[in-house]
Order: sequence, then C-alpha cells, then structure tokens
Amino acid sequence: MLNMSLSILSSKPLKIAILASGSGSNLQVLIDAMQSGELPIEIVGVISNVKEAYAVTRAEQAGIETAVFSHITEGDNVGKRMGIKTFERHASAKLKQWQPDLVVLAGFMRVLSDEFISSSSAPMINLHPSLLPNYKGLDTHQRVLESSDIHHGCSVHVVTAELDAGQVLTQAMLTVNRDESSEILKARVQKLEHKILPWTILLIAKGVLDLQSINDQIQDANHLPSLPLKLWLDD
Ligand code: GRF
Repeated sequence: MLNMSLSILSSKPLKIAILASGSGSNLQVLIDAMQSGELPIEIVGVISNVKEAYAVTRAEQAGIETAVFSHITEGDNVGKRMGIKTFERHASAKLKQWQPDLVVLAGFMRVLSDEFISSSSAPMINLHPSLLPNYKGLDTHQRVLESSDIHHGCSVHVVTAELDAGQVLTQAMLTVNRDESSEILKARVQKLEHKILPWTILLIAKGVLDLQSINDQIQDANHLPSLPLKLWLDD
C-alpha cells in the first residue's frame, strides 16, 4: 500500500475523469482545489447521465470538457432514456479519449456493469455516504437515524462489480445526534465528503495510496494493509 518513492517526486498532475449525476458539490471542491494548486490534479473531463445536473454547469463554468449521455439521439428510440449499456459504450469512448489516471464517481447514481468496471484502463473510486460496509445502497442517513448507531460518516472505496463493496480506502466519521433530521445529518456528512474526497485523491496523487498494489494484494488474497485510513472530523 505504501509507495512513497516515485510519485511523491513527480510534478505531473494526476489526470482525473469524474462521473456525476447531481449537484456536483464534491466536483466543485475538486475544481477549487485544482485551481488553487492545493491538489496536484487535472480534471480532464466530466461525464453525466443527467442533462440538467448542476455538476455539468459547474464543469462548464470551470472550462472543463463535459459529456452528457442521458437520452438516445439517433434511430427509432430518439428521446428515450439511455440504457446503462449504451451509456457505458459512450462513456468508455470518452474515457479512452481523455486517458485519465483515475476515474472518480462523485455522486454518480447509476450502477455500472462488471464489464465496464473491469475494462477501465484507470482505477475507479467511489464516494459513499456511510461507514462501509454498513449501509450500502440508498437512503443511508435515514437508515442510520432509524438505527441505534452512534457514528456515521462517509467512505471512499475502490469500485468493483458488487455495489459499494470494493476495498474501503478512507473514511470520515461524526457522532450522530439522535434528534437531528436526515437532511441535517446529510448536510453534516456532506461537509465530511468535501474533506475526505480531496484528501484521498491527494494520497493517491502522492503515491501514498497505491491502487494497483492494493488491487494486487486483494487478488493474491495476501495480508491486506490496515485500510481504511480514518479521519475523525466531528463538528
Ligand atoms: C453525495 O452525498 C454522495 O455521497 C452521494 O451523492 C452525493 C453527491 O453530492 N453518492 P454532490 O453531487 O457532490 O453534491
């Protein structure tokens, strides 16, 4: 896991492609960090499956190339929502063109196929609003409030064919207030997301987290490093 040698000395920014479906607040944090020089990254493109996603507007405003694949534009099915296979075909072509070092799913709300994930030439990470392996899937904040859990937070993990199940790289945690609404809890977790995602990408860009060797260790079923790295960010 620890690979401090090469990339720490590298001055080349990490090329990142981002997939997003929603408001893109996490994308904005990465754009700001790229523009201020805080993160050694270059966002080479943003792909969305939602035409109206504010994430697309944010990318356009920052002069980042965007690709939206939401509806079929040719043939008999013009105007119909795109199936995941068609989306993936278009997205793969864009990724091939952009050649990112890393693909980041930041609020991307479609489930990708095994074929798409395993054929990606760049590793893929996802931001998930829970302390995985707890609360995979949707409505995480409400489910936490309905439980007796004391802690909640968010995770960045490697994307695998099984939903929200890949190696967890990093987590940020907070204490749940029993009387808060799920909207308030969501907003508190989002504040953590805005810290954990750039932090994780910094660790990858600097070679501290080496996704290739993490993946190899999983394949070899050897002893895994002590992941996830945890940030306690209570407010
Ligand atoms: C985040 O809360 C993330 O955990 C979830 O989708 C949301 C995306 O938010 N997967 P934004 O689009 O980055 O504002």
